[in-house]
Amino acid sequence: MAYRPKLSKTASERPNAKPASKPASKKRYLQAKPEKDTETIRLNKFISRSGICSRRDADVLIQEGKVEVNGAVVKEMGYQVQLNDSVKVNGTNVHPENFIYILLNKPTNTITSTDDEKGRQTVMDLVEANTGHRLYPVGRLDRNTTGLILLTNDGDLANRLMHPSYKIGKVYEVTANRYLSDEELEQLRKGVELEDGIAKAYRVERHLAKHDSVLISVHEGRNHLVRRMVAFFGAEVIKLKRIQYASLYIDKLRVGRWRFLKAFEVNKLRASVKLPELRFTKS
Ligand code: URA
Repeated sequence: MAYRPKLSKTASERPNAKPASKPASKKRYLQAKPEKDTETIRLNKFISRSGICSRRDADVLIQEGKVEVNGAVVKEMGYQVQLNDSVKVNGTNVHPENFIYILLNKPTNTITSTDDEKGRQTVMDLVEANTGHRLYPVGRLDRNTTGLILLTNDGDLANRLMHPSYKIGKVYEVTANRYLSDEELEQLRKGVELEDGIAKAYRVERHLAKHDSVLISVHEGRNHLVRRMVAFFGAEVIKLKRIQYASLYIDKLRVGRWRFLKAFEVNKLRASVKLPELRFTKS
């Protein structure tokens, strides 16, 4: 199998990229080093954590004899390395990056993707140039949905948050092109039949301050889920904003702005998907 590293272009390489917004304060740059230098991890994890490819692609590289550990080619699956070992892939040194966690208030007209072949603005354009890290969005928001999206290079956390078994809550502020009746809201709670199965909101409320909007809370991450749930009644969503994801809230973060998560926020998220606590350093 050919080696295709999943590299995203950096913002400066993209023709239509807009200048990135700045974090609220450089002092709040938090990163976590998940293991001590003398701890051992699997070689494929070491490689994927350096940001060049997935664990599966790393396995292929290992099988193809393209990986050296301390000067010797290693082809053994499951080989363990220490964080301070010297690892080369195709002759180039690689090293795991520290974990970082960013909360972005995604603007409209922005793609939730690491790269876009049509050169449209992606969520990465808004943050990557400032962090220097290769990050990945956790889940997906439609191009014209605004609101909270988490970006991180902590793959275990991202995978667990996206896994349906953890039933991560997502709360959307929804404005439709017409008033949604009490009966329709009740039907959303009971479940509506979509082409790929029943979709149920675990909570539906009218917005206390915005009388034309409702808050719809779901556990699922199916494509266009909320828009399709509203379309079930022949109505159309004209504005969609995610205001909560798991234990994270958008609060006062302005559209297009981002901030680093605080240590306690990361550890609360990790605890919610049964991952151990991390210790953080500021840079
Ligand atoms: N549901 C949608 O319909 N769109 C989103 O972006 C997120 C949830």
